[in-house]
Amino acid sequence: MLDQREFAALLEAAKLLDCGFAKLPKLNDKAPGIERLGEVLNATAERLKDNYPYFHPLYAGQMLKPPHAVARMAYALAMWINPNNHALDGGRATSAMEKEAVAEIAGMFGWTNFLGHLCGGGTTANLEALWVAGQLHPGKKILASEQAHYTHPRISGVLQLPFESVPTDELGRMDMNALARRLERGDAGTVVATMGTTATGSVDPLPEILALRTKHGFRIHADAAYGGYFVLAENLLDEAKKAFARIGEVDSIVIDPHKHGLQPYGCGCVLFRDPGVGRLYKHDSPYTYFSSAELHLGEISLECSRPGAAAAALWATQKLLPLRKRGEFARGLERGRKAALALFEKLKANSRFVTAFAPELDILVFAPRGGSVSETSVLSRKVFEAAAKHELHLAVAELPIHFWEKNLEGMKCDLEALTCLRSVLMKPEHFDWVERIWELLLEATAGVLSGETCG
Ligand SMILES: Cc1ncc(COP(=O)(O)O)c(C=O)c1O
Repeated sequence: MLDQREFAALLEAAKLLDCGFAKLPKLNDKAPGIERLGEVLNATAERLKDNYPYFHPLYAGQMLKPPHAVARMAYALAMWINPNNHALDGGRATSAMEKEAVAEIAGMFGWTNFLGHLCGGGTTANLEALWVAGQLHPGKKILASEQAHYTHPRISGVLQLPFESVPTDELGRMDMNALARRLERGDAGTVVATMGTTATGSVDPLPEILALRTKHGFRIHADAAYGGYFVLAENLLDEAKKAFARIGEVDSIVIDPHKHGLQPYGCGCVLFRDPGVGRLYKHDSPYTYFSSAELHLGEISLECSRPGAAAAALWATQKLLPLRKRGEFARGLERGRKAALALFEKLKANSRFVTAFAPELDILVFAPRGGSVSETSVLSRKVFEAAAKHELHLAVAELPIHFWEKNLEGMKCDLEALTCLRSVLMKPEHFDWVERIWELLLEATAGVLSGETCG
């Protein structure tokens, strides 16, 4: 985990930054309590040990991984200044860095003339996109699939917009027949297309949603918080490839640099195809925007204070690993996906497991096979615990039975939902660890199936 080179590079850059302020009169102040800094930092480290090893490939559970070293160091460096990207007065350099980094993200979707900025995360970014949607289609419904992120109904509630879910097909994507029927009612203002669902990484069929827009004239918001960067990957199956190829035609996009963009938490991004929506943010602040006539990011965002350090980290990461097809960053995404496919093939071929469907991105779901859905669900939880004792960390999810039905093969269907294991293989290194992950999973499952108590 620890690489001394990171700290050496940070120290060198910090000295360089310090030189930028060398003309100021010297300060002799020291931070209160500085004598006990080491002691308290050590106590902090002790507390932080109580975590799953997110940085390690054997952590293969939720969407969690540490940021790239350059993001960590650039964030830390910027913390000495602690810029606030709300206004140019608070974060001159980092506002410029944010604009450049966000333009690079928008560029992945083919947008050059757009409106966008960073924000706290996917939830805030979706809130902002739906806030704009609600102003453009007041009182009209927000439609999202049953597998859309759980915050969409909640956000709609906050915005007092009516919300309805659309059923999913057996691959976890929005069911197009159900959507088409639902649209006939004529009260839909916005359809949320999830480009990589949280549970299974399923990609909603965007080309079909776009075709329906031509007929019904609603807005499309792409929640690509998780999946957005896969627009750069070249190893997607046909349908996901076609969906990502047309993402630039939607009205707004949310993408989370703090998920697949190698950033620390607190870095979401919202983009609007029509920069004209900026007029909806218009507000007068008598005390913030006085340093220049240039655009202050606070004039086009819902939040006020935001960490300029997040922009510095993102900017630096994208300088090191540009957002290009076939580049190092894209290859990393492709490796995670290859890991998910390799593990899926092993699971599918082994009669001890039941799988739902092939992963569309890098998330897969599976369960140890029991005699009934309820027994399988109990076994899933047991394998989850047993695997953790072998240092393999997975996640648990509860998914509708229609995702599994094709593969149940005689399993008694006594529940509407199956509790399964879920694995997000989002680290490029996961690909090199598939064999080890498989061995540990087999060991844990064998122990559970043979009735061994895990210990
Ligand atoms: C598809 C999707 N949308 C939105 C979110 C919410 O993002 P955040 O946790 O950054 O608020 C998530 C989180 O996992 C997600 O997967």
